[in-house]
Amino acid sequence: MFSQEKKIQLQKHKTPFYFYDFGLLQKTLSVINTESKKYNYHVHYAFKANTNLKIIEVVKNSGFGADCVSGNEVKCAIENGFKNSEIVFAGVGKSDDEINYALDQNIFCFNCESIQELEVINELANLKSKVAQIALRINPNVDAYTHKYITTGLEENKFGINPYEFETVIEKLKNLPHLKLIGLHFHIGSQITDLSPFKKLCTRVNEINNYFLNKGFDLPIINVGGGLGINYHEPDNEAIVDFEAYFKLFYDFIEIRKNQQLHFELGRSVVGNCGSLISRVLYIKNGINTNFAILDAGMTELIRPALYQAFHKIENISSIEEEIVKYDIVGPICESSDCFGKAVELPITKRGDFIAIRSAGAYGEVMSSKYNLRDDVRSVCF
Ligand code: LLP
Repeated sequence: MFSQEKKIQLQKHKTPFYFYDFGLLQKTLSVINTESKKYNYHVHYAFKANTNLKIIEVVKNSGFGADCVSGNEVKCAIENGFKNSEIVFAGVGKSDDEINYALDQNIFCFNCESIQELEVINELANLKSKVAQIALRINPNVDAYTHKYITTGLEENKFGINPYEFETVIEKLKNLPHLKLIGLHFHIGSQITDLSPFKKLCTRVNEINNYFLNKGFDLPIINVGGGLGINYHEPDNEAIVDFEAYFKLFYDFIEIRKNQQLHFELGRSVVGNCGSLISRVLYIKNGINTNFAILDAGMTELIRPALYQAFHKIENISSIEEEIVKYDIVGPICESSDCFGKAVELPITKRGDFIAIRSAGAYGEVMSSKYNLRDDVRSVCF
């Protein structure tokens, strides 16, 4: 629950809007820096989680690199002061235009996801007489035990190069002189709250790292992606994830050589709990078992509940009532899936009340849409 002072401040703004708590963001970034620097680890911020320019600026000032998944994200990183030499570019479907742009910008590394992509980057780099630094995005076949839409490291997922393709890749690389293989990249999924899948990932990384060494590739970069989950149920009690345990796990279980750097790509755990979607109740309507509270924000502002059945804590930040009633919290969009939560217990809620949908800092604003010709969503930071 927000402080009284914050609640009053939030009620001064026109809804719906994203509120970003910069105090919490700064604190989170500082914990990540402290914990990762203990082991000399390098952290890239996963742009896909939130590209609000005010957030990006704070992240950049904390010294993070950028993990991008589109040409426009690479452009956004460069235009907002991230060093070209600290930008990585992943994605299963990089277009020729995007690759050409990233080649022109001399980014640090392309994380390549298929054999054909290796050939295309080599060809485009050749036309520019350049050598592109690449890492192989490997599908390690490790189950992240998270929602099926955000699991990425299983054989059945579209991401990465499978171990049975390694021999072919190594053969191919011999004839691709415009590529320089500098690393291995992994990412097993997102919103992983139990650390054990990361332990399994370390074991797989060790095996694969050794395999490549035996084949004559002493690669300087190992990138283990992101995926660390946040506490959506208790955003105040655990506002910042246990980064100490997370980085220590890698220190304990990954076997990297002295000449190798360990890289991370964190998104949700950096910005997730710093953001809330603030909305007002337009109408209260009687339902059969519960009442509906119809908000002025919907799935167009925050699609996670509709898309992944994701849980977000919902609070009434203006009611002074004591009696608790259950509400289905829905948006104004013409879709039945436009629902933020069912049978949510709130103090008696009326038209005009302010509702906070918490932990919406990651994959919230960035995934908003114009469906139903909705206005662009605004944001407020303090
Ligand atoms: N690296 C790669 C290659 C990724 O694909 C992702 C996220 C990340 C890093 C950052 O992962 P994070 O630390 O944020 O878990 N829209 C979904 C999440 C999609 C995640 C996509 N990849 C959601 O709202 O839950």
